[in-house]
Amino acid sequence: MATFTAQAHPNIAFIKYWGNRDNSLRLPVNGSISMNLDGLFTRTTVTFHSAGQDSLTINERAVTGKGLERVSSILDLVREMANIQECAEVSSTNNFPAGAGIASSAAAFAALALASSRAAGLSLSETQLSRLARRGSGSASRSIPGGFVEWRMGSGDGDSLAVSIAPPEHWQLTDCIAVVNAAHKKTGSTEGHAIAGTSPLQAARVADTSRRLEICRTAILNKDFEAFANIIEHDSDMMHSVMMTSTPPLMYWQAATVGIFHAVREWRAGGIPAAYTVDAGANVHVLCPSGQVEAVRKRLSELPGVSEVLVAGVGGPARLI
Ligand code: PMV
Repeated sequence: MATFTAQAHPNIAFIKYWGNRDNSLRLPVNGSISMNLDGLFTRTTVTFHSAGQDSLTINERAVTGKGLERVSSILDLVREMANIQECAEVSSTNNFPAGAGIASSAAAFAALALASSRAAGLSLSETQLSRLARRGSGSASRSIPGGFVEWRMGSGDGDSLAVSIAPPEHWQLTDCIAVVNAAHKKTGSTEGHAIAGTSPLQAARVADTSRRLEICRTAILNKDFEAFANIIEHDSDMMHSVMMTSTPPLMYWQAATVGIFHAVREWRAGGIPAAYTVDAGANVHVLCPSGQVEAVRKRLSELPGVSEVLVAGVGGPARLI
C-alpha cells in the first residue's frame, strides 16, 4: 500500500472550546474560532502493512501506551471507512522548539487524519477530514481548513466540523508566543474537558457563546483590531475562570503569565495594538497586526519570566507533501 505524508499547522483559539457534550465523539458544548499558525507544523507519514500491529514514532522516538492507543483509535475509524484490516506505521515530527509547550495535538491529529485516510486509499473532503481529526483532538478539526477557522458545534457527529471563515491573506495578523517556564506539568485538555461542567461558571460561559462568536467573527471579517482585542481577552479570561473554579481546580497561569496580561493592556492603552489569549498552559499568545511584530516581540522578550518568543503569521490548510 502507498505511503502518504501530510503537514498541518497548530492553531490558536480566539473563542475557546472547553467542555464536551459527548466526550468520546468529542462533540463540544460550544462553537469556537481560531487561526492556524504558519511556520509551525507537524509532518506525519503513514503506511499500512499487513503484519504486526500499529506503531508510532514522534520525533524519532517510539511511542507506546496511551499515546499509541489514541492514534490507533483514529486508524480504526479510517480502517472502517476504507474497509481494510491492515496495521499502520505512523511517524511524526514537529518543528516546534522542544519544550516550548505549544499544544501540538491539533496539528498532529489533523496531519494524521489526512495522511492515514490517503494511505488507506480514501479521498475525503475537507469537511470529512475535519470530522475525522476532531475525534483525535477537538481543536484538530480547526487545523484542517486554512486561515481563520470556525468550528460549528453542530447537532451531532455528522455536522460538528470546522470551516474557513477567511483565507490566510485576509488579515496580516501575527501571533507572538511568549514562552513562560511552567513549574508544573499541565493537566491535559482531555481531562480538563471532562471536568468543565463541575464549574458553576461553565453554564453561563456556554450560554453566552453565540454573542462572543458573533463579535469575534465580525471583528475578523472587518479587520477591527480593537473589537478583536477586547473579545479574545474576555473569552480567554472566561475560559480560565471556568478552569480555576472546576473540581479539581485547574490553574494554568504562572506569575509571569499574569505579568504579561498587565503589560499587554498597558501597551494597548499607550497605542500599541496587542492582545493576549492563553490556551491550556502558561504560555501567552500575543496577537498584533504584522507591522507591530518587532515592537511587540522585543517588549515581550524583556518581561520577567519570558524565556523565548516564537512568531507565527496566519497559516494555510492541512496538505499532502
Ligand atoms: O483539542 P483539545 O482537546 O486539546 O482542547 C483544546 C482546548 C483549548 O486549547 C484550551 C481551547 C481551544 O479551543 O483550542
